[in-house]
Amino acid sequence: MKKNILVIPGDGIGPEVTTWGKAVLEKIAEVYGHDFSFQEALMGHVAIEATGNPLPDETLQKAQQSDAILFGAVGHAKYDNDPSAKVRPEQGLLKIRKELGLYANLRPILLFDELLDASSIKPSILKGTDILFFRELTGDVYFGEKKRSKDGHTASDLMVYQRYEIERIAHKAFEAAMTRSKRLCSVDKANVLESSRLWRETVQQVSKNYPEVETEHMFIDNAAMQLIKDPKRFDVVLTANLFGDILTDEASQIAGSMGMLASASIGDGTGFFEPIHGSAHDIAGKDLANPLASILSVALMLDISFGLKEESKLIIDVVNQVLAEGFRTNDIADGSTSPYKVLGTQDMGKLILKFIDQHSLS
Ligand code: IPM
Ligand code: MG
Repeated sequence: MKKNILVIPGDGIGPEVTTWGKAVLEKIAEVYGHDFSFQEALMGHVAIEATGNPLPDETLQKAQQSDAILFGAVGHAKYDNDPSAKVRPEQGLLKIRKELGLYANLRPILLFDELLDASSIKPSILKGTDILFFRELTGDVYFGEKKRSKDGHTASDLMVYQRYEIERIAHKAFEAAMTRSKRLCSVDKANVLESSRLWRETVQQVSKNYPEVETEHMFIDNAAMQLIKDPKRFDVVLTANLFGDILTDEASQIAGSMGMLASASIGDGTGFFEPIHGSAHDIAGKDLANPLASILSVALMLDISFGLKEESKLIIDVVNQVLAEGFRTNDIADGSTSPYKVLGTQDMGKLILKFIDQHSLS
């Protein structure tokens, strides 16, 4: 299979982890005889430094022409503490999501049994959890009108949804539910917010097309609580942009670490694959970042964008094997007395490549 992949490393630990996501793609191409070619582009703080623009036109053009995108992270502490900054790294990410029509963000909470102890939640509560989040990605307060009064003392962000935006992601989530355990929980705040009432009404209507799916509606505050009280009660979770942002960070703790979770953003065109973690400048350049989320993002790319199920599964199996053999990066090796073999970013990446080779020979 011939594919053209755009790599956008971004900021902080982005380049370190993406190096290994790309290396895994190259290894898979070698082992299975695919022809993957790569281009690179700037986004975020690095793009602001180089061009003044967090999403240069050239990056967007390359993105539109590619078959899939592997992205690292954006952000920089200098903007976090400067609310007055007009140009921000995150604007690049939000703009590319909008421009590419990436309205559905899939965040699977893939729980490796080997990591049950890495979570702060009891293993007995976690075991067997398998959740697939569908977070709406191009609407909500993220993209509604933003205002600041002339005197600077009043600010607002419009939380806005249109019916078609809810319908299209709801269909995607229900279709996924049909291939899984046929349970879907839609999360909103319909007891307070009008946009949530439209959300609930629309999801109720869409659900009529999927009579086999058991549909439940839950308020966001309750969902946040249930998620750590009894994560197994969830299967497909469908939610709006802001609620999904918050819930999936919470859910990452079920998987043990943010460093383990991959995501796929899809819509009308090119798919966009990224770890759910951020740029983590505090550990950038120290060989401490966990490359597994980027590597698992590649597994999602192979499956969702290219339909290469066997290749995708091989990557997940290899991650499992690495964990089963006791290898950990710092974020998933709890405490100094842990029995694990703790590796840096590079050694973890190399080990994954080695195990892929071994699997392909066996
Ligand atoms: C995410 C991130 C982004 C978001 C930021 C970096 C803009 O937190 O992908 O979850 O809020 O969507
Ligand atoms: Mg987030």
